[in-house]
Amino acid sequence: MTPDPHTEWVRSSVSHALAPPSLPAGASAADERRCRAMDVDDLPTPSLLVDLGSFEHNVRTMSGALPGSRLRPHVKAFKSTGLARRLADAGHQGFCCATAREVEGMAAADLGADLLLANEVLGPAASRLGAVVASGRARVTVAVDSRETLAAAAEGGVREVLIDVNVGLPRCGCEPEEAGRLADEARAKGLEVRGVMGYEGHLMREPTATKAAKVEAAMAVLLAAHADVGGDVVSAGGTGTYALNRWATEIQAGSYCLMDTEYVEHAPAFRPALFLWCTVISTSPRGYAVLDGGLKCLAMDHGDPSVAHGDCRVTPAHVDPTVAMHERLHVVDGDQLVDVWPIDLRGW
Ligand SMILES: Cc1ncc(COP(=O)(O)O)c(C=O)c1O
Repeated sequence: MTPDPHTEWVRSSVSHALAPPSLPAGASAADERRCRAMDVDDLPTPSLLVDLGSFEHNVRTMSGALPGSRLRPHVKAFKSTGLARRLADAGHQGFCCATAREVEGMAAADLGADLLLANEVLGPAASRLGAVVASGRARVTVAVDSRETLAAAAEGGVREVLIDVNVGLPRCGCEPEEAGRLADEARAKGLEVRGVMGYEGHLMREPTATKAAKVEAAMAVLLAAHADVGGDVVSAGGTGTYALNRWATEIQAGSYCLMDTEYVEHAPAFRPALFLWCTVISTSPRGYAVLDGGLKCLAMDHGDPSVAHGDCRVTPAHVDPTVAMHERLHVVDGDQLVDVWPIDLRGW
């Protein structure tokens, strides 16, 4: 991958800040600036910040509840191999992806021990997954919910699939009673069927009083399909149901890492860790201030961002699409910049 000049600049400044070299007499003002700790004020705005303490809290909390392969973190929520590596270091070696691009990027970063494309793919995307398999750099499994998607997987060169079952979210997934037949067809085409997937996304924001019973009912549908399909994987769940879903063999959560403000009431163990660092570019005697962060750097589909009075850190209501608008996550400890993680899994 071509080095990104901005990332290299931040990295070199951060490493100087952590281990400042002794400056020779007569060093220039520029050298001195590079030797003092770099902080958020040195960043161009708008820039995305990750609060290291909150991020580490989220990772610790989730890996305490779902250690190792009990969690298959979803990279679509942060789209960064730098962040994914922290999750691998915390013990999670398998990941979910949403796009062929994410699978390719994870494989190229040597994070491909067990990648699940937890979505349906057709056409060239299936061939791109096949090319990753052929490269030997990753184990790739893809979700299939129809004859067409399993034919695309087989023709594209993918060898392993999960049968995606609709457990109540009106999106992808075959009808539960069709799962066994699809598994037979997949095996007849030479594919290895590892098990089932059934994402209960419609229950992530369900009121607490009814959530547990509804998750159990959705997972009963998935387990019945699993009995027809076979294999040892039952993949389901997300940040809003991770603590309740005792039936899946692995949980596909991703938002918990950086956490949406809108999601916190449904998963209060996690803290918002992503902020947009802005500059106030104008103030009005009528009582408002204008920041340099707008629609092109903040997703608004889950509502308005939050801004603490007098602060230039804006907390987005929806993390996934906000991240996808940026190139880098700047990791901060207090006001000090300690790392930068390129958002290198963007694109298609
Ligand atoms: C297939 C699938 N699995 C898991 C998730 C988990 O997401 P989150 O951690 O955001 O709840 C999502 C989110 O949309 C998804 O689409």
